[in-house]
Amino acid sequence: MRLASTSLQKAVRLLKRGELVVMPTETVYGLAADIFNSQAIKKIFILKKRPLYDPLIVHFHDRAQLNSLVKTIPSSAKRLIKAFWPGPLTLILPAHPNISPLITANLPTIAVRMPNHPVALKLLKLFGNPLAAPSANRFGRISPTSLKAVKQEFGKKMPYALEGGNCQWGLESTIVHFPEDKKGKKGKPEILRTGSITVEQIEKVLRQKIKIQTKTVLKHPKAPGQLARHYAPRTRLILLPSHWRHQSIPFPKNSAFLLFSQPTSFTKNQFILSKKGSLPEAAKNLYAFLRKLDEKKFNVIYAELAPNKALGKTINDRLKKAAH
Ligand code: TXA
Ligand code: MG
Repeated sequence: MRLASTSLQKAVRLLKRGELVVMPTETVYGLAADIFNSQAIKKIFILKKRPLYDPLIVHFHDRAQLNSLVKTIPSSAKRLIKAFWPGPLTLILPAHPNISPLITANLPTIAVRMPNHPVALKLLKLFGNPLAAPSANRFGRISPTSLKAVKQEFGKKMPYALEGGNCQWGLESTIVHFPEDKKGKKGKPEILRTGSITVEQIEKVLRQKIKIQTKTVLKHPKAPGQLARHYAPRTRLILLPSHWRHQSIPFPKNSAFLLFSQPTSFTKNQFILSKKGSLPEAAKNLYAFLRKLDEKKFNVIYAELAPNKALGKTINDRLKKAAH
């Protein structure tokens, strides 16, 4: 993706002045602010209408910057860093005392990731400081995977934005937490939010089974992924039971069908995530399709779950949350 250097310079100027900038990443678009400017960080929460108890992910471009963000890095985290950074993996590590409690929501930990998108990396390099960046959508809504989607979210309040094309993954980063008790005793790493790096990939690097947090709560979650309803379209979304193709279910008028790969002969308004049955392609299309379906004002969206492996686990997690 070619980007005029004047756009990057303008973005840096705005960030230095404490303004927000929309930044493309390989997962979804982010809403970025200087981590050392509390006024700027507050603007993120206001624009997104995000509750202050929901902490932010800090993005940076150089591994050396990590030492100013976290206190310690467990050896298993180091292995994941080596395998997946830059890339769609967020680590929850003990926060450095200099980090603003606005970013961590007063938790003793901080979420960090090195994104893998040329525009994000150039912006981070030119700006110098790390950037806090949640997904560039209003709280509880679907993450944006194109600049057009970000504009739909913010309308007249749209901040300055860098174009980065359609996001390569289309689903958020995977969040891995390294628990520690009060005495500093380390527990087993666990996945707080499934994402673009699969559970299987992480287990292979760590050479152990890894637990996925499935607990959902209504408020004060350890990860947003834990909020019971999230990533939601405005239209009601209902999950189809696995046997739905073999039963005659009376569907109401003006229903849409969000299907994984196989069309059917007995319904109208079918939207197929990947005709060739590719999980990465389905993942990349998921949020864009949900937005498109919302615009078409169907009465109900019936969604079919993907095969429950690799990226299919993340797709299904998001569909279940959208259906809650
Ligand atoms: O792919 C992504 O991760 C995108 C792009 C822009 O990087 N970002 C993203 O940010 O999805 P956001 O804010 O929408 O979701 C990140 C979640 C937060 O909702 C938060 O609950 C969780 O990460 N998180 C942040 N800090 C945490 C912490 N210290 N402990 C547990 N969870 C944390
Ligand atoms: Mg988000």
